[in-house]
Amino acid sequence: MYKVCFAIFCLEYKILAGLDAAIEDGVDVISLSLGFGHSRSPLYNDTIAIGAYSAMEKGIFVSCSAGNDGPGSGTVQNGAPWILTVGASTTDRKIRAVAVLGNGAEYEGESAFQPTNFSRKLLPLVNGKYCDLLHLIDVKGKIVLCDTKRGLYREQIARTVKNAGGAGMILMNNKEGGSTTLAVYDVFSMTQVSYKDGQEIINYMKSTSTPVATISYKGTKIGDKHAPTVGYFSSRGPCLQSQGILKPDIIGPGVNVLAAWPTPIEGETTSASASSSSTFNILSGTSMSCPHLAGVAALLKSAHPDWSPAAIKSAIMTTADVVNLGNDPIQDETLERADLLAVGSGHVNPSRANDPGLIYDIQPEDYIPYLCGLNYTDDQVSVIVKKKVHCTSSIPQSELNYPSFSIPKESSAQTYTRTVTNVGEAISAYTVKVSGLKGVEVTVNPKILKFTVLNQKASYNVTVKTLDLTGHSQGCIVWSSDRYSVRSPIHVFPHISVI
Ligand SMILES: *[C@@H]1O[C@H](CO)[C@@H](O)[C@H](O)[C@H]1NC(C)=O
Ligand SMILES: *[C@@H]1O[C@H](CO)[C@@H](O)[C@H](O)[C@H]1NC(C)=O
Ligand SMILES: *[C@@H]1O[C@H](CO)[C@@H](O)[C@H](O)[C@H]1NC(C)=O
Ligand SMILES: *[C@@H]1O[C@H](CO)[C@@H](O)[C@H](O)[C@H]1NC(C)=O
Repeated sequence: MYKVCFAIFCLEYKILAGLDAAIEDGVDVISLSLGFGHSRSPLYNDTIAIGAYSAMEKGIFVSCSAGNDGPGSGTVQNGAPWILTVGASTTDRKIRAVAVLGNGAEYEGESAFQPTNFSRKLLPLVNGKYCDLLHLIDVKGKIVLCDTKRGLYREQIARTVKNAGGAGMILMNNKEGGSTTLAVYDVFSMTQVSYKDGQEIINYMKSTSTPVATISYKGTKIGDKHAPTVGYFSSRGPCLQSQGILKPDIIGPGVNVLAAWPTPIEGETTSASASSSSTFNILSGTSMSCPHLAGVAALLKSAHPDWSPAAIKSAIMTTADVVNLGNDPIQDETLERADLLAVGSGHVNPSRANDPGLIYDIQPEDYIPYLCGLNYTDDQVSVIVKKKVHCTSSIPQSELNYPSFSIPKESSAQTYTRTVTNVGEAISAYTVKVSGLKGVEVTVNPKILKFTVLNQKASYNVTVKTLDLTGHSQGCIVWSSDRYSVRSPIHVFPHISVI
């Protein structure tokens, strides 16, 4: 571990010093759970991209958090193509706190604070709106419905309700929060419910003059069929600095992650339960998902010591899961099918990643024509690669040998070439299938890739012809053999200028 942040400050020169120290120490994998909010800096002005380039050049894998600025579009950070950019998803474990209403309806929310002696009797239910002006209403001994509001932390809201004498609180998500509920070790009897459930609770309150409710604590439940879903906060693509690379790359566990914590978490809670001296905590954020992927990369690196960072990344991306435990396409916080700009290649599947069949490899020097293609000056490219560069050749961004595709819509047909390396079975043949793309015609050539030895390379072309210049189009290219399925998502987007 390299300490680069002090109090709330993460100074850029300290991050670079930390990365240099890690490189010097000969680490194999770096997990970097930090970023500078939603960065609009070009790569030559992006400290983490510059530091990570040096690490990648030395064969070190770098996993970074995608950021917690979602669900708005274009909020992803750490989007350099030599970095694995990790979004956050839920797991199938919920720490249930059910809101029970007088009409018998039950809404499954979450809280990691699970009192055993909470009233089973229905208590009066009042709407505290944002719960910042509770002196205006009588909440004593009642359950208070509160709406989440930007700027107020859950703990502040809970404390206000508690101090006003409330018996318990139902915290409903705003629209943006959708279905993402957090299991926080709260200071108070409460539950957090989804936006949709919150609206139904409001409707119930409108339907009766004497609304009542209680909270029923159910402890840990495993098996949520919606999991993994994208957490509402998980930053979304496109990466404004390089729209020709699909970001984030992958999602991994980052909502309600239980982990060791340096200090007891009880803080000022009144409940002096045995867990109050606990040095575990539950947190959510892409800072939690990034180290999961760093761990997966470490496993792959030990199983395949000769794989480059790009090869490890390819293995993780082309084998990712695209369906949830209920076998439906992975959803976002709205419980609608998640966009590629939210999930990238999908949800990490470590065992499949260990045996991907084919990989899309990239050597450090391959990034130079890519950077020149971003129209950076020689000096700007030199800042990133830390040696004198003359841009003699350049490629469009989408031409980098990346394991996913992000392709701008152009009026004429465009062809992109990819090269795969056989790391599966020596004698093997793969056939291609393109699916899901609307408004564009995608042709792959050749349609069969044959291999006779391991580490043999083969190239194919993808030609994209735009039929309809408006709107995004999403789908995938899958190369399949008897044993393997190597999947690359394709995002085809109408060109948008960077503001
Ligand atoms: C480079 O980054 C600095 C701060 O880190 C910022 O003030 C400056 O505007 C950035 N320049 C460009 C071209 O983005
Ligand atoms: C539940 O138990 C805690 C700890 O013993 C106590 O502080 C609290 O007042 C109790 N709550 C109720 C509703 O009885
Ligand atoms: C770089 O400049 C060329 C020529 O002006 C232009 O066609 C291309 O879109 C530019 N690329 C980027 C990434 O801005
Ligand atoms: C792929 O495209 C390149 C450049 O457009 C071309 O030279 C090459 O022959 C193509 N290969 C195949 C298999 O179509």
